[in-house]
Amino acid sequence: MFRYSDFDIRILSFVDYLQNIISLAKRRGFVFPSSEIYGGFAAVYDYGHYGTLLKNNIRDAWWRHMVQLRDDVVGLDSAIFMHPTTWLASGHVDSFDDPQVDCKKCKARWRADHILEAFDVSADKQPLEFINVELEKLREQKKLKCANCGSTDLTEAKRFSLMVKSNLGSPTDVLSEENVVYLRPETCGGIYLEYKNTLDSTRVKLPFGIAQTGKAFRNEIVARQFIFRTREFEQMEMQYFLHPSMMEQKYEEWKKIRWDWYLEYSMDESVIRWCKHEKLAHYASRAYDIEYNFKALGGYKEVEGIHARGDWDLSQHSKFSGQDLSYTDPRTKEKFIPHIMETSVGLNRLLFMFLDHAYTEEDVNGEKRTLLKFDRRLSPIKAAIFPLLKNKPELAAKAREIYNMLKPEFMCEFDDNGNIGKRYRRQDEIGTPYCVTVDFDSLENNDVTVRDRDTMAQTRVKINVLADYIKRGLNSR
Ligand code: GAP
Repeated sequence: MFRYSDFDIRILSFVDYLQNIISLAKRRGFVFPSSEIYGGFAAVYDYGHYGTLLKNNIRDAWWRHMVQLRDDVVGLDSAIFMHPTTWLASGHVDSFDDPQVDCKKCKARWRADHILEAFDVSADKQPLEFINVELEKLREQKKLKCANCGSTDLTEAKRFSLMVKSNLGSPTDVLSEENVVYLRPETCGGIYLEYKNTLDSTRVKLPFGIAQTGKAFRNEIVARQFIFRTREFEQMEMQYFLHPSMMEQKYEEWKKIRWDWYLEYSMDESVIRWCKHEKLAHYASRAYDIEYNFKALGGYKEVEGIHARGDWDLSQHSKFSGQDLSYTDPRTKEKFIPHIMETSVGLNRLLFMFLDHAYTEEDVNGEKRTLLKFDRRLSPIKAAIFPLLKNKPELAAKAREIYNMLKPEFMCEFDDNGNIGKRYRRQDEIGTPYCVTVDFDSLENNDVTVRDRDTMAQTRVKINVLADYIKRGLNSR
């Protein structure tokens, strides 16, 4: 058996690896490009049955660790649309943009900071003047070319706002500065606006956090890496409100908590790393990203950010709304604007990370076996139940009985299509940890064959302990 990461025989270039993942994701119902029957809609994706289940499992795993197992974090589900002033106060309307460069020949659009980074010039959060000076240097060295058509006729960099506009609730369909309502570019905006209501309604005291998951929208200039960067995506964010004197300690604690979450869900330390932001947003005092080494993208990329945001958010919303968002310590009576430490991760990006990490090809007796070696708790389907032969009603009835018994416990699938080999192959590609086969002996002895996804080992298990057997297996690593 081999795994591409372990052996250099038939090594895939990362482009092939990406194509394999995209094709499996579509073939097996994880991720579809949006609006395909109309020719597609760039940088927007739909999630099929297995993609939805996987996404839900990742979200639940995050929520369990961020809210359920803690005493100091509560939940929220705020609206996507908010009062437009929210985004003036946060600075998004004026400065949430990326530097864009266009190819005059083929009309392809590029992120100028990404072009510079490819030449080892760090351009993150740099002013436009800096970016254009650096681009000009590349132009003079004849290195500035469109990666799509090779033309050297590229525009100067200009600012492109990432904010997505709508005219929600407007009496006119004309989109003007007066009637514009934005779709939220990050979910944390709603958390700041509900900080006071949460404080007044849930008996929390500082330090405490508010967590929420939900959709966010950004008019990304370039979105060519499957679901890594899309225009509609889901975030899972937690904002931790604290006294500034606690920032140092809590920041380190949360860094560890988030790092450990990845290890808990079967990432190992050889594929994730920390990346410190040298250039910080104007309100931030510290920022680290967790990066994962995407095989499909050829290197480390950000999946999560941990940011110390100071008192910027609540101070700005206090100023723009005229509401007092300060906190009075019940013990010391000190009154202050809480500082905020956030953890922010993209759910779709995590799904891509788990797909990338799980994707495995093995050579089994000269045949290729493709499987998704997900952490078993994240697998969309936990067990698939098969009758050995489709045309034997007594086997089908027993298999249905077992399926109905297991179904309330976890996501199961009944499959009697094709031969057993084909059914195994399909379940391997979905990442199902256990396949249960009912054969003629099962009718006599009340036991079934359970086949393990990773080892392909087969074990006879009594039907009355089958649910416990699978549950134990799901929780062991
Ligand atoms: N509230 C802070 C914030 O939104 P960010 O670094 O812009 O910070 C946090 O985004 C995370 O959201 C990223 O690490 C990434 O996982 C995810 N994310 C951001 N933009 C995305 C996009 N266009 N598509 C998919 N995920 C995205």
